[in-house]
Amino acid sequence: MQIVVFGAGSLGSLLGAVLAREHEVTLVAREAHADAVRADGIRLEGELEAVVHPRATTDGAGLEADLAVVAVKAFDTESAAKTLATGRFDAVLSVQNGMGNEATLAESLEAPVLSGTVTYGAILREPGFVECTGVGEITLGPRDGGRSSLATAVGEAFERAGLETTVAEDMPVRRWRKLAVNAGINPITALTATENGAVLESPANAVARAATRETARTARATGVSLSNRDALEAMESVAAETRANTSSMAQDVLAGRRTEIDSISGYVVDRAAEHGLEVPTNRLLADLVRTWEREHARIALGDGRS
Ligand code: PAF
Repeated sequence: MQIVVFGAGSLGSLLGAVLAREHEVTLVAREAHADAVRADGIRLEGELEAVVHPRATTDGAGLEADLAVVAVKAFDTESAAKTLATGRFDAVLSVQNGMGNEATLAESLEAPVLSGTVTYGAILREPGFVECTGVGEITLGPRDGGRSSLATAVGEAFERAGLETTVAEDMPVRRWRKLAVNAGINPITALTATENGAVLESPANAVARAATRETARTARATGVSLSNRDALEAMESVAAETRANTSSMAQDVLAGRRTEIDSISGYVVDRAAEHGLEVPTNRLLADLVRTWEREHARIALGDGRS
C-alpha cells in the first residue's frame, strides 16, 4: 500500500517507521526532520526496533496515495487539510489527540475520513530517531461509526506491518473515551511536570477523576453513551499501563512548545457550554495550561520583566 504520513512528531515518526517495514511510505515533515530522514532514515528503538528509509518531503502538496495518515498536532489540522486537498487519496485516517480533527479534515476533503486512536507510547529523541516506550493498540473505523470495507483494508495493511490493530464500529464512543483519558492525564502531567502515573496518586488523582467524569458527562449530553465508570476505568488503566511515560502535553511543555489543550480540555468546555453544563475542572485546567502558553510565549519573545 502507498501511504503518506503527515507529521513527523513522536507518533508520526513511530507509525511512519513501522508502516515502512511493509509499505511504501512518504513522510511529510518539517525541514529538520525531512533532512534527517533523507540522510539516515528513521531509527526506531525501545520496544520496537527498525531502521527504515521512507521517502521524506517538506512539501505535502499534490501527493497521491492509497492512504494519508494525519499525525500533525491538532492545531495544525486545518493547514494539513488544505494541503491534503491538493492531492488524491482513497482514504484519510486521523490518529491525532483531541477532538474535532476528523470534522476539520472532512470539511476540506472528498476522500472518506477514518478515525483512529493510538495507545502506543512514543518519544521523539531527535529528528529521525524515535523510541517506542510501549506497545499498545491502534483502533480505527469510520468517523461516524459503522462498518466500511475501506477501514477493514486499512486495518489489514496496519496488521501486515506489525501494528496491533482493531477495526471498530463505535469510533464516536471510543474517541470520547480517549478524550476522557487525555483530559484526565495530559493537563495535570503537563502542569506538574510528572509522568502519567502521577494521576493515580493523591492529590492529582481527585483532579484527574473530576476532569474525566466531567468529560463523560459531556459525552452523554452530546448523545454518546459513555458512563463515568467506563471513562474512569479507561483513564486509570492507561495511567497505570503508561505509568513511566511522559504524556504528549507534558513533552510539549518541557520542550517549550504549544500544547493541544484547545482540542482536549478546551473542547470539553466548549461542548459542555453548548449543552448548558458546568465543567469547572476542565475549565480550570484549560485556563492554567493556556496561562503557561501565554507566559512562555511572552518570555520567549524577550518580554520577561518580573
Ligand atoms: O497524549 C498522550 O500522551 C497519550 O494519548 C496518553 C494516552 C495520555 C498516554 O501518554
